[in-house]
Amino acid sequence: MSFKNKTCLIVGGSEGIGYAIAENLQKEGAKIILASRALQKLEQAKEKLQNIKEANDVTVYPLDITKHEAMTSFVCDFIKTHGAPDYLINTAGFARPGYIHEMDFNFFEQMIQLNYLGTARLCHAFIPHFIEAKKGHILLTSSLAGFFGLFGYSGYCASKWAVLGFAQSLRHELKEYGIKVSTLCPPNTDTPGFAEENKYKPAEVLKLEEKMKSLSAEAVAKAALKGLAKGTSIIIPGTGNKLNYLAAKLLPQKIVDMFLKKPK
Ligand SMILES: NC(=O)c1ccc[n+]([C@@H]2O[C@H](COP(=O)([O-])OP(=O)(O)OC[C@H]3O[C@@H](n4cnc5c(N)ncnc54)[C@H](OP(=O)(O)O)[C@@H]3O)[C@@H](O)[C@H]2O)c1
Repeated sequence: MSFKNKTCLIVGGSEGIGYAIAENLQKEGAKIILASRALQKLEQAKEKLQNIKEANDVTVYPLDITKHEAMTSFVCDFIKTHGAPDYLINTAGFARPGYIHEMDFNFFEQMIQLNYLGTARLCHAFIPHFIEAKKGHILLTSSLAGFFGLFGYSGYCASKWAVLGFAQSLRHELKEYGIKVSTLCPPNTDTPGFAEENKYKPAEVLKLEEKMKSLSAEAVAKAALKGLAKGTSIIIPGTGNKLNYLAAKLLPQKIVDMFLKKPK
């Protein structure tokens, strides 16, 4: 399967996992369009992408997916200029861990606003155009936290479980129109977002994670492209993580809880 000359809109593509996906798609000769909030970061990403040998031009759009009206006018402009994209990829999201009784409730609202409602808003705005075109592939981003209840992540887990449920439902609904839906579920990945998240992790989680290795954004991006090419429903980078996912599905909850209880 080739991404050459395919129109790929990557929301959240200015850095982190989204940028790494853009770089891999750019190397494959895709036509890249990036959208996220800060224009300066978008311009820097565009410059790096355009330095890739024999690269196509890159287009950037400032966009905040938590703003409904901005989304409507963005999609209108986008469709007039590019038509429905071949791939709609959303990696915009953030994690704020912490003990619930110490967290400002605003973070619960912000994670649902961006991680879940931002994702749903983007899909809601683009899907009529995909249906008209009778094609398209949507890649949404949940997390390993999208199917485990992780200690210290109540707000984030809820927002990523929501993304996974939403994506699974869309996958069935859009199949008859020839539109595919995949969900990327990364483990801990070295990105600017992960560095920020680490500042707020409960001490016992940080201690536990000292023994674990994070993946690179590049490795996650490579798994994402492989999953997209195969039309995989749930894309889990890393063999060990795939096994954990299967174990969580197959083992009795009592046993799963033994692994997920408060870390020591
Ligand atoms: N890194 C990990 O360990 C990890 C693990 C599992 C899942 N994930 C998920 O993977 C995705 C990417 O994570 P990451 O670590 O690569 O994040 P990151 O380094 O923080 O990058 C996030 C990207 O999203 C954009 N963005 C943030 N808020 C936005 C908004 N309201 N509207 C549009 N764009 C917005 C950012 O640019 P601006 O700030 O300029 O808007 C940036 O381009 C997230 O959904 C995250 O939850 C990450």
